[in-house]
Amino acid sequence: MLKAIRRSLLNSLLRIEAVFDRSFGSRLNPIRQLGTITFFLFWIVAATGIYVFILFETTVSGAYGSVEYMTRDQWYLAGVMRSLHRYASDAMVVTMALHFSREFIMDRYRGARWFAWFTGVPIIWFLYTSGISGYWLVWDQLAQYIAIASMEWIDWLGIFGEPIANNFLDNTSLTDRFFTLLVFMHIFAPLFLLFIMWIHVLRVSQPKINPPRGLAIGVLISLTVLSVAVPVASHAEADLEIYPAVFNLDWFYMLFYPLYDRWGPGPLWGMAGGISLLVALMPWLPPMKKPKTAVVYLDKCNGCTRCFEDCPFGAVSMRPRTDGRPYEREAFVDPDLCTSCGICVGSCPVSTPFRQTEELVTGIDLPGFPLVRVRNDAVKAMQHAGESDVEAKVMVFGCHHGVDVKALERPGVKALSLPCIGMLPPSFIDFAISRGGMDGVLITGCRENGCYERQGNRWTDDRIASVRDPYLRERVQRNRVYVSWADATDMVSLTKNLEEFRGSLKDMTGKAGK
Ligand code: HEM
Ligand code: SF4
Ligand code: SF4
Repeated sequence: MLKAIRRSLLNSLLRIEAVFDRSFGSRLNPIRQLGTITFFLFWIVAATGIYVFILFETTVSGAYGSVEYMTRDQWYLAGVMRSLHRYASDAMVVTMALHFSREFIMDRYRGARWFAWFTGVPIIWFLYTSGISGYWLVWDQLAQYIAIASMEWIDWLGIFGEPIANNFLDNTSLTDRFFTLLVFMHIFAPLFLLFIMWIHVLRVSQPKINPPRGLAIGVLISLTVLSVAVPVASHAEADLEIYPAVFNLDWFYMLFYPLYDRWGPGPLWGMAGGISLLVALMPWLPPMKKPKTAVVYLDKCNGCTRCFEDCPFGAVSMRPRTDGRPYEREAFVDPDLCTSCGICVGSCPVSTPFRQTEELVTGIDLPGFPLVRVRNDAVKAMQHAGESDVEAKVMVFGCHHGVDVKALERPGVKALSLPCIGMLPPSFIDFAISRGGMDGVLITGCRENGCYERQGNRWTDDRIASVRDPYLRERVQRNRVYVSWADATDMVSLTKNLEEFRGSLKDMTGKAGK
């Protein structure tokens, strides 16, 4: 059931991504950059926050006036900064929500990925604390309502001896000292948020935290235009002697306040705590996936470090040799970090199908999907590609997360799917053409900038272009190799590309038409 829902959500997501790919190009596609955009928005919020803070007065009587001064007198600079600060904060909620929904739909939160998911939960709490505490500082009637409701909500826990909401009983009970404390909260919450954002990507190897420049400029310009066109304004000044009745809530941060008014603090704590706990535990809820993680075979490992450099999850480390062989280092896999993508297998120089031995043992392998199986399955497939001397014979290598390549099979076309296309050592392309009797090899896998395993398609491109070890050998004619990145929903375009490729091979090899 859950699987069917996720599959249909995934198909919709991939279709939407395809539309954006066509409009922006895959590199600038914002859906592929949600995490990096959220980081960038944080920097906008931080920079504008510093500016606004310089003009802000941290007293109960002066706060509102100083914000009004920015908005009305210095609207062209401080007003724009204030609006940018607000809109970028709102946008953070949106991009963060889309980012974690995407990771969920793509099933990228279980196994070794639990850490990024789990640390996402405190991120949500700190983002909300940062945003909500910002609203207090304006000290208008919205701030008054939000501050009192928030304090009452916290008071319900009974952790403070005296209820902190008492500071808002009337205009005399709110002191500058307490107000300064609120200001500090709004400074420290984002600092903690940044700290957890750093922890969040700590286990990702070479995480991408900055969006491409074009996208960053686009985001900044859009928010600036919005800030100039629709400047943010305050409500009337807070007055603790009255109960503020009419205000426009910021639905990005305040969607829970109407619930608070209706339910009261206890049920809202129950809901917030329950949902947080459920989300935090999701990586361990059934169906559990536990594929066998990569294993190093020391007798074949020469310590070249390629697997260490290529692993997208930092699961491989190099440590001093333990087996007395004359190499300085050896590869070591931390099973807790390994997602069983197999990319390290594709990077190992020992992973070659040309060796004569029956057992194809590599320096590093996936026990659940060993390289010997890839070679044997490929050999078997190529033997059954048919005695076609009229149609070009093509071996397709794909990945479990892209198009179902088995569905491409037809006379003259054989296909093999791997956990990730990055698992394919380029020597297999050479092997398919020089030994397997294939006229060409088609490589496919998730679309550019969308690899399920982060780097599989990128490293494959680089290996074929001979800019990343292990290179595809010079002797392989590049026009016999066709790379076509395609997501699971791109069957039609991939089939078209395959046929075009076969056509070009037919011309090249002089094979007759049907
Ligand atoms: C301020 C909010 C957030 C920011 C700035 C952020 C940013 C990022 C970045 C930059 C990455 C690494 C992307 C890469 O290089 O592959 C990432 C990965 C990830 N994020 Fe977030 N994130 C945020 C919130 C969240 C939340 C709330 C969740 C879920 C509860 C979440 C779940 C994940 C997961 C599961 C990954 C790992 C993907 C993988 O290993 O392939 N993130 N995030
Ligand atoms: S299979 Fe290899 S490349 Fe993939 S996460 Fe595990 S160690 Fe890293
Ligand atoms: S790529 Fe292969 S030979 Fe090189 S360090 Fe890794 S396991 Fe050893």
